[in-house]
Amino acid sequence: MTYETMTVQDLRAEARKRNIAPGTIIAGASKATLIQGLTSGTWPASAATDPAAQITAALLAMMPAPGLDEDRVRAIVREEIPAPRQLTVTVGGREPVTLDRQHERFPLLLSAAAAGVHVLLVGPAGTGKTSAAAATARALGIPFEAVSVGPQTSKADLLGFIDAGGTYHDTPLVRAFRDGGLFLIDELDAGHPGVLTTLNAALAGDWLSTPAGMIARHAGFRCVASANTWGSGASREYVGRNPLDAATLDRFAAVFWPIDEGLEAAMVGVPAPAREFDVLAGGTLDPAAWLARVRSVRAEVERQQVRAVISPRAAKAGVALFGAGWGRQWVEESILWRGMPADARARVEGGAK
Ligand SMILES: Nc1ncnc2c1ncn2[C@@H]1O[C@H](COP(=O)(O)OP(=O)(O)OP(=O)(O)O)[C@@H](O)[C@H]1O
Ligand SMILES: [Mg+2]
Repeated sequence: MTYETMTVQDLRAEARKRNIAPGTIIAGASKATLIQGLTSGTWPASAATDPAAQITAALLAMMPAPGLDEDRVRAIVREEIPAPRQLTVTVGGREPVTLDRQHERFPLLLSAAAAGVHVLLVGPAGTGKTSAAAATARALGIPFEAVSVGPQTSKADLLGFIDAGGTYHDTPLVRAFRDGGLFLIDELDAGHPGVLTTLNAALAGDWLSTPAGMIARHAGFRCVASANTWGSGASREYVGRNPLDAATLDRFAAVFWPIDEGLEAAMVGVPAPAREFDVLAGGTLDPAAWLARVRSVRAEVERQQVRAVISPRAAKAGVALFGAGWGRQWVEESILWRGMPADARARVEGGAK
């Protein structure tokens, strides 16, 4: 029996086996969500990203014992119920989309992309960055257009060209920008930084200048980039990587994409539980509090002469990310810290309010 086929009776039986007695609902779990899930067997989008959390909540809601150890219940559920192989996501008023199991950080990517924030996924090889971008396009119900960047990538690969016969040949970027779609710039840090500045206009503006003339940005244009480094150049493992232009990097919320061992196991057919991932970690900040935080960290970065750019554009993206449901921890990671060396970060954090 998988959790998907569990009925209320099954859950009650599970709970009874574990000596969990009836009581009140725990914080954070909506009763309506649970009842819908338990009676229909389908989970709404918010729940689908973390069904184990929902089941935990359901058990606790129906039968908490006095003095029940919530952490223990969570642990039992996570150990014993492998994450489902598939999840169903609903974005806005769109049709629900069924996806294979995704990376634990997928909710960050999907919610940012849905809110129109460009995301740069930074992580080691093979952690699922390219796949996650494709899944995001599917979830959003928009075309997926990708360019894999390398040393030979040219402006024409991004903006298109007019052939000898006078015919314009468009590109994945142009199609996504003009007609709506998710554009993936894969392996961003393998490209020539000078060529990549071509992207800057497309990523921040309403118009793109191509050999065929100016084209207007479609409201459904989204961009995701992937990289193995934080844009500061080659490392021992990634020798062919280039430092990226600060103005290019500034156009992205940077999200670290580590190895998700649960996903790795699922990829080879081994059922595995999902680690708890809290999109809302650190809570939310209103725009005024966020602005104060940005300015304080920026001042400290300058005072300590740390190499980091914290621009007004980034401040604005932070507000959009809070609006998309990200918690402060994730917003700060992707807007303020973005791979800053630990010692520099500690100094800046120590001095900033
Ligand atoms: N959600 C998933 N479900 C099943 N398989 C997946 C999933 N995500 C990634 N994979 C598989 O894992 C492998 C690596 O994924 P992917 O190519 O997306 O990683 P990457 O982070 O883009 O790697 P690189 O940095 O080398 O480009 C691929 O074989 C892919 O099919
Ligand atoms: Mg890739």
